[in-house]
Amino acid sequence: MLFHSTSALVLLATSSCLAYPHHSKPKAGITDVDILQYALTLEHLEDKFYREGLANFTKQQFVEAGFDGTFYSNLKEVSFDETTHVSFLTQTLQAAKANPVAECTYAFGVTDVKTFVATASILEGVGVSAYLGAAASIANKNYLTAAGSILTVESRHSAYLRASQKQSPFPQPFDAPLDFNEVYTLAAPFIVSCPKSNGQLPVKAFPALSLDPASTNLASNAQVTLDTKDPIHQDKKASCYYAAWIAVTGPVFVSATLEGNNKFHTTVPAGFHGQSYVVITKSKDKVTDDTVVAGPAIVEIPGANGST
Ligand SMILES: *[C@@H]1O[C@H](CO)[C@@H](O)[C@H](O)[C@H]1NC(C)=O
Repeated sequence: MLFHSTSALVLLATSSCLAYPHHSKPKAGITDVDILQYALTLEHLEDKFYREGLANFTKQQFVEAGFDGTFYSNLKEVSFDETTHVSFLTQTLQAAKANPVAECTYAFGVTDVKTFVATASILEGVGVSAYLGAAASIANKNYLTAAGSILTVESRHSAYLRASQKQSPFPQPFDAPLDFNEVYTLAAPFIVSCPKSNGQLPVKAFPALSLDPASTNLASNAQVTLDTKDPIHQDKKASCYYAAWIAVTGPVFVSATLEGNNKFHTTVPAGFHGQSYVVITKSKDKVTDDTVVAGPAIVEIPGANGST
């Protein structure tokens, strides 16, 4: 009985959704130099993050927090890699007669070794998805190979940091590509200010979205709540919302309902494991600058591939 009345309600709700018009707007021309500047922006953030963290905490503090004796020296190696990515991209931009972006001022909000390692792991995962998402927009094949060689190293960092936190190092057979604005949305909260000489990258941040702390069951089909940082304005409200879970084969859309003006209730679709990304959209089949309402939120879904 309950089941039937619920599905009738769902049907009603669905048919009352206004069809969202799909404008297939071509993406404004993003150049290889823009992409290199964007990559350098992310590498600066990572580089500063590790240098600051390794200055904040001693080897002893990592051991006391439960990490093994080689962890600190491995983090120094990771830090060295990021510094080298910064100098490589800087030189590549100079060779292309561009003015490379400089380091910004950041607020990482790290309070202890555990939050440092957890944040490092998230940043590496986002780095992998950023390079993967940018790949198809890179025109110059030499740049593409260089970006690929950075991507593979970031994914080793990611696997190592995940394993060190007892998470699956390779939780799924595919990594998810994120587009420029999605990545910038995740990076922006760490950036306090940048030198004026950096100019404006052709990217924008969507409204921030995060997993509600009360959503602790993240298994497939579990109900989860996603919170927007800023309330959705009354006049910006849509009749229907969807949660689009990002995957290389295309987003998986699940319906979402807005409670009040900042809580979206939705469901974890099957097949997502590890560091996953979800955006709220007004469209049930397109993730574009016009349809994204907020996000991505990062959701760590337990369970390795093959162990669902
Ligand atoms: C380093 O410590 C400062 C002061 O506690 C903190 O604000 C910052 O987020 C820390 N950064 C890292 C990367 O650990």
